[in-house]
Amino acid sequence: MPASRPIIRPDILSIDRYRPGTPAEVIAAQYGLEEVVKLASNENPDGPFPGVVDAVAAALERSNRYPDNSVTTLTEALAIHHGVGPDNIFCGAGSSAVLQCIALAVGGAGTSAVYPWPSFVLYEILSKIAGTHGLRVPLDDRHRVDLDALMAAVRENTNLVYVCNPNNPTGTYRSRGALVDLADSLDPSVLLVVDEAYAEYATASDFGSLADVAIDRPNVLVLRTFSKIYGLAALRVGYAIGDPQTLADISRAQTPFTVTTAAQAAALASLHHDLSGRQGANRRGVEAIQSGLTELGLDFAPSQANFVWIETGIEGEEVYRRLASRGVVVRNYGMGTWIRVTVGHPSENQAFLEALRNSLAG
Ligand SMILES: Cc1ncc(COP(=O)(O)O)c(C=O)c1O
Repeated sequence: MPASRPIIRPDILSIDRYRPGTPAEVIAAQYGLEEVVKLASNENPDGPFPGVVDAVAAALERSNRYPDNSVTTLTEALAIHHGVGPDNIFCGAGSSAVLQCIALAVGGAGTSAVYPWPSFVLYEILSKIAGTHGLRVPLDDRHRVDLDALMAAVRENTNLVYVCNPNNPTGTYRSRGALVDLADSLDPSVLLVVDEAYAEYATASDFGSLADVAIDRPNVLVLRTFSKIYGLAALRVGYAIGDPQTLADISRAQTPFTVTTAAQAAALASLHHDLSGRQGANRRGVEAIQSGLTELGLDFAPSQANFVWIETGIEGEEVYRRLASRGVVVRNYGMGTWIRVTVGHPSENQAFLEALRNSLAG
């Protein structure tokens, strides 16, 4: 008997879909609110840097032509920016798309991938898409990626180890030295992906990028994105830094023309801007939120990113609803009583703290 519906892979059907932060307009309509503050997706509140929108507008004039598939000009600019060669850079439509290339090129049936939990959920989703067995490794008791436990979880068939630094959703970080030790301990046949989506926000003195290590070792890749501090989440540009051969190999799993001309132009027009203003503003926002939480008597993980992981004492879904009804959207992870809030403008951070104070009361 032929099936009455198309046959879909059971492992694909088992995927818990990626749940993006709820758009502000949806919450506004749902609760009849005029103003909603969205602090749910770790976006930059300032938007694109000056000059970027004009560069995008000019690029849109060329929309009848396919984009430059090799992302040549941006790749060269990124190479100069990082002090590496152009062949040490590989761009994709967001670092999510680069992660997808990696998962497809390196994983697959019979292999396993090791990642911290909770961490960026795409590591798990992409493992399933690739048919890779995903192994969750709980964070340590300070909500940090547990590097020893990650190492211990590596099996004979493990091809991929993910580290998110600083870690999403907890905002905690591991020192550069600790990550170099991890890279040293891994077998060269295992690819270590160090996802540095939030690296530009980190200010701790022992935090450091692994980009230079990635240049030297075929089995380490560092991922960066324009979606966070550069404020280009909607345009979709991310990149990997690493060994030319490894990058060339994973690029085979990429579909053509994924980085649009507008996105390439936007990233290029952003790259020369100084990030210290945004970094400082974010740091002050983290500190304002953290001291507000201390006043409320709530526990949180000290953050090196643009978000804070908070123990509210109330079931996450319920806190999410109470905050949303007061016009503040955060991210509920379905992980007990913890929620994640993104740093916004000072007034938005205060609006969150006020809404949280009222939500705790009921
Ligand atoms: C840790 C981490 N890596 C990667 C991404 C994906 O970013 P992009 O917009 O570049 O796909 C995110 C987005 O939230 C993230 O939190």
